[in-house]
Amino acid sequence: MVASKESDSLDSTFYKAAEQFFPAYNNVGLTFDDVTLATLYSEVLPRETQLHTTLAEGLQLNIPIISSDMDTVTESRMAIAMALNGGLGLIHCNMTEREQLSKVGRVKNHVHGLIQEPIKVTPDQLIGDVLGIIEKKNFDFSTFPVVDAEGKLVGLLPGHVVKQRYGKRKVAEALTPREQVHTINRKELGRDAIARADKFFNEHPGIHKLLVVDDQDRLRGLFTLSDVERIIQERIAQFKPARDPEFRLLCGAAISATRNVSGELDRDRIVGHVGNLVERGLDLVAVSTAHGHSKGVGDTVRMIRDAFPKLPIMAGNVTSAGGADYLVDCGANVIKVGQGPGSICTTRIVAGVGIPQMTALYIASRAAQKRRVGIIADGGITKSGDLVKALTLSQAVICGGIFAGCREAPGEVMEIGGKLYKQYRGMGSLAAMKAGSAARYGHATDSNRKIAPEGVEALKEVSGSVDRVLAQLIGGIQAGMGYLGAANLAQLREKARFIRVSPAGQREAAPHDVVELKTGN
Ligand code: XMP
Repeated sequence: MVASKESDSLDSTFYKAAEQFFPAYNNVGLTFDDVTLATLYSEVLPRETQLHTTLAEGLQLNIPIISSDMDTVTESRMAIAMALNGGLGLIHCNMTEREQLSKVGRVKNHVHGLIQEPIKVTPDQLIGDVLGIIEKKNFDFSTFPVVDAEGKLVGLLPGHVVKQRYGKRKVAEALTPREQVHTINRKELGRDAIARADKFFNEHPGIHKLLVVDDQDRLRGLFTLSDVERIIQERIAQFKPARDPEFRLLCGAAISATRNVSGELDRDRIVGHVGNLVERGLDLVAVSTAHGHSKGVGDTVRMIRDAFPKLPIMAGNVTSAGGADYLVDCGANVIKVGQGPGSICTTRIVAGVGIPQMTALYIASRAAQKRRVGIIADGGITKSGDLVKALTLSQAVICGGIFAGCREAPGEVMEIGGKLYKQYRGMGSLAAMKAGSAARYGHATDSNRKIAPEGVEALKEVSGSVDRVLAQLIGGIQAGMGYLGAANLAQLREKARFIRVSPAGQREAAPHDVVELKTGN
């Protein structure tokens, strides 16, 4: 598209590249709503934009979104959902090391579509009892594998006999016997278990269940035809799951800078635990603290880098060029940026520190760029437009609050005044620190000392599944890229042109002067 010199110069007088824009505001901290992006000539359709991003050498995500290492956001269920959508989950560390290992193991061993712990029944149960369980647990299925006391497969109880009329009969009298049940040894599943199960269902018309057993004939899982069909359908989706070279889902985990009784970093424990995580297949370790530009964090990163030269290390948080440089010097290869923008953060109020996020991202990104490492924008994202703005300066974004209401986040759903909520709390809130996260905020874990919380305990309205929330966010990112003529994230970073928004401009940006019937979601 040919533009006249005059219009080019008019545009560039107002809409400036990051290099001109941010230094021109070197006396004010700017955040997402303070700026907006100018549109550019485009031949790019939103649906054709590519969203893959490289966090560190050999570690690529298919969408630039990571769920936060918070105890009300990311455990294995969330991490699995994030990776299946092409992103990454960071398993939090407010739990015992053993628990964290098991959660990472669960993500790395997750076989999409394989129900690893199917609900089973035993031969001596009454069919009436099975019906009772179905009702109590609200199951929407009625076919069950039957196993003996050692977990060995005895048969399959088909749904058509799970009826009140047979209530007094034992499962053993009604089951389809072992020799007639279709099974596969888990060793035969190979790298692509779904393709294997799909092949089986093609070859066995009318069969809807395939049981997985081990060499001792113990039940190890179950495939259902409907799950496999849904997954095959998803495979044509634009954004593929984020996997390691062995086809396992990617998984990250946070660790804390544990200290021994004399207050020194506990090298053996830190390196030992990271070693165990790596053994489980961990793809990235995050040294997540409120103040990354500090000796304790730097020493922890150095310790891990010395012991694991190739492991991607994400470290933070920082908001300065000096902080980013320091962590790169210590061996980090992804820098986490954000101090106080989070929806549950009170660091700026309590400690009087922190930098509005767009300014912080600009400063840290320019330092990181010189060192050839990426930065991650952590916190403060409330809408997809914020994500687009954050991605003009960073390789990926970490979100907490946006995912805390999803069904995959840990915690129970509660009903208040007819609405459904889930708990969401800052890792620097009193409750989270008591549960173990005090080290992240530089406080002693001993509960007798008074500690100043830097986060609040809050609620989020239940927001359905991660798939749904991500679909909205991704749609927004792709729309933003379409407006800027950016076919991929590198082009988005290169093409972005900014302008400052006045308070009246901010009001204009949201729906106004209407009675809203439905929100955008
Ligand atoms: P969002 O806005 O996505 O932010 O809910 C999540 C990020 O906030 C950080 N975080 C905290 N910051 N006090 C803070 O100052 C806290 O208690 C706290 N807890 C989490 C963290 O970086 C997270 O990813």
